[in-house]
Amino acid sequence: MDHFDYRDRTLFCEDVPVPELAAKYGTPLYVYSEAALVQKLTEVQTAFAEAKPIICYSVKANGNLSICRLMGKHGSGFDVTSQGEFQRALTAGPEDSKIVFAGVGKTDTEIEFALRNGVFLFDVESEQELHNIGKVANGLGVKANVALRVNPDLPPKTHVKTDTSVKGVKFGLDIETIVDVAMGVVGHAGLSVVGLHMHLGSPILKADPYRMGAEKGLALIKQFRAQGHDIKYLNMGGGFGINYRKDEAKPASAFADAIMPALRESGCQLILEPGRFIVGNSAILLSRVLYTKATGGKHYIIQDAAMNDLIRPTLYGSFHRIWPVNPAADVPVTPDVNGDPDDPQPFRDMPNCFKQDVVGPVCESGDYLAKDRPLPGAKRGDLLAAFSAGAYGMAMASNYNSRVRAAEVLVTGRTHRLIRRRESFADLVACEADCLT
Ligand code: LLP
Repeated sequence: MDHFDYRDRTLFCEDVPVPELAAKYGTPLYVYSEAALVQKLTEVQTAFAEAKPIICYSVKANGNLSICRLMGKHGSGFDVTSQGEFQRALTAGPEDSKIVFAGVGKTDTEIEFALRNGVFLFDVESEQELHNIGKVANGLGVKANVALRVNPDLPPKTHVKTDTSVKGVKFGLDIETIVDVAMGVVGHAGLSVVGLHMHLGSPILKADPYRMGAEKGLALIKQFRAQGHDIKYLNMGGGFGINYRKDEAKPASAFADAIMPALRESGCQLILEPGRFIVGNSAILLSRVLYTKATGGKHYIIQDAAMNDLIRPTLYGSFHRIWPVNPAADVPVTPDVNGDPDDPQPFRDMPNCFKQDVVGPVCESGDYLAKDRPLPGAKRGDLLAAFSAGAYGMAMASNYNSRVRAAEVLVTGRTHRLIRRRESFADLVACEADCLT
């Protein structure tokens, strides 16, 4: 991962030795590299520069206010999916931030809030929602800018729980009927249909689905224009994949190559909603080993991060590389492919490693960060790093088992600062304490 590297068998984030962070802030701890965040945003901006894109960082990937502020400072707008995310963007972003609002279930309150707070456009997901946005806008005496979200009906391309462009999912308007739906709002007093939106799914490691999606989008844009809609924007959503195992991710330029031909022909301005691509490889989840244990032929490393801190492994079977922060002299400094289940020889080049599960303190057998992973022996007090944890890590964290959520730290060169303090018991019960009779 860029900006995380081992020096003399100690993991560094930028120029800070990671053990220093554990000592100062405790564990479990999310550790972000500012340089990595800015580098990935810049990579997208550069790859698509020709399109003068409106990059709307997807707040759902990681809504930390300091990260949103950093995104805004470097020229990003925001993609939001709830009033809460909208308020994060308003709180952290510059005043003129462009905010796009997607999601299948926007409430009237949320629609009104967005209209009153300068939403750039709504990504509309159903015919009923479209007419409802028109109604709310009419009620306020304003016109809502909308992009119709199409489900482009592409072959499966990622995990079934996060593929959003196969037939039958709840997202977007069906490609077969979207033109009729657009027809129904030509000349509507409360609506301006100014764009077409799609979000194919997440994470996507191939560029080809974007080519197919953009081509289908182009054909629709032509039809909307023929109806009289002034289509200015093509929003291709997010979904660009990252490195979880090794170097499987494509650079942003590969996605640009796939999208640009259809975009050029459309004459539209491009909107993108990358989340994971920007924040995913910018962070580790740092934890400390509590105990080790062997039972029934299995070996467990019990450490202080759990499924409530990082739910992706148990929810999607996701792979996060895990490695000691201070690997011993007789193990590789960094694993080649650290137990990839698809690797026919997972122990190749992994001397002194054996199969272990990395588990947390939560009371479920499904509480694991890694299963059957070749790892070196661990001892109480060792630090472990779970890599590629910046996206949908803290964002999906919970208080299950009444565990307080982890702290988050941002590293900049040789300096570091808290961007979210560790929760306290008072935080944990805040919404209940007043109700206690
Ligand atoms: N735009 C829309 C409309 C989306 O629904 C999403 C993600 C994005 C943009 C950003 O996608 P990204 O660039 O981050 O891939 N919890 C799952 C991922 C769910 C993605 C939901 N939508 C995970 O941990 O893998």
